[in-house]
Amino acid sequence: MRIAAVSDIHVLHDGSDEPLLAKIKERVEELNPDVFVIAGDISDQLDILSDSLARLNVKNCVNLFVAGNHDIWFEEGDGTSSLEKYSRVIGEICRKNGFRHLPDAPFELESYAFVGSTGWYDYSFKREDLGIPLDNYERKEYRGAVWYDLLRIDWPMTDLEATDLFNQRLEYDFSTLSDNVEHIIYVSHHLPFQNLTVYKNKLPWDFYGAFMGATSTGQIIRRDRRVRLAISGHSHVRQMINTDGIVSLTAPLGYGRPNPEHLEKFVKDAVVAIELEDSTVKIDDFVSGDLSTGLPYASFRN
Ligand SMILES: [Fe+2]
Ligand SMILES: [Fe+2]
Repeated sequence: MRIAAVSDIHVLHDGSDEPLLAKIKERVEELNPDVFVIAGDISDQLDILSDSLARLNVKNCVNLFVAGNHDIWFEEGDGTSSLEKYSRVIGEICRKNGFRHLPDAPFELESYAFVGSTGWYDYSFKREDLGIPLDNYERKEYRGAVWYDLLRIDWPMTDLEATDLFNQRLEYDFSTLSDNVEHIIYVSHHLPFQNLTVYKNKLPWDFYGAFMGATSTGQIIRRDRRVRLAISGHSHVRQMINTDGIVSLTAPLGYGRPNPEHLEKFVKDAVVAIELEDSTVKIDDFVSGDLSTGLPYASFRN
């Protein structure tokens, strides 16, 4: 099983990312995977999400998408809510563009199954030693720094309820897999393991760490002995860890944009090539860290 994975492309609104998208598609075609995975955060605008997926769709392989928090930010104008986006609209957009929205249903290929969820956060990744009151996490604000989901996620659930809902759905999806499934690949946007989160001993960065993922989701994954690999996004600092035999990684591209002559290398570093042979995961040339370090942000994006 060959997998190509990337996340957090954060496509610009002005069309200037077309060469980037073309280069990502070209790189994935070169890798010739069985499955191409995008682990969320393409755009908060549905038309840009749709156009980007159309450009990224790779023939002769299965294209999978899992919505990120930015993808489900509600739209100011047309009123598409976060829950509507996550549970219906993004699935429709994926189908239209040759992708499967993995949270809608797991995807099985022989003895392998891909199970997906955006995941969420319950502040279990918070740094206790900072002594920030729980109330600040619930309000998503600390000394003027705001976690933007506060303003752009409009579902009527607390973060703990959302985490619980997605956890229950994940357990349900695991329970419905065919008997011949021996190996599970979990694809999420938010992180299942705290070790994937990078803290920098500075604020508000470390406050934001609490919004990266949920320990309870990782526990569910660990409990199912069939899970071999977890692919996530959300954190823009790339990491790969091994937790109880599960290889877990983040594959963000991020906000930075290189000069055109460096685009090929940038994309090569961003797209992770994974080889899965039964329970053995092989990943060559994984690039960790923040690919955007030292690069200009093409424009302000949330
Ligand atoms: Fe992101
Ligand atoms: Fe995100």
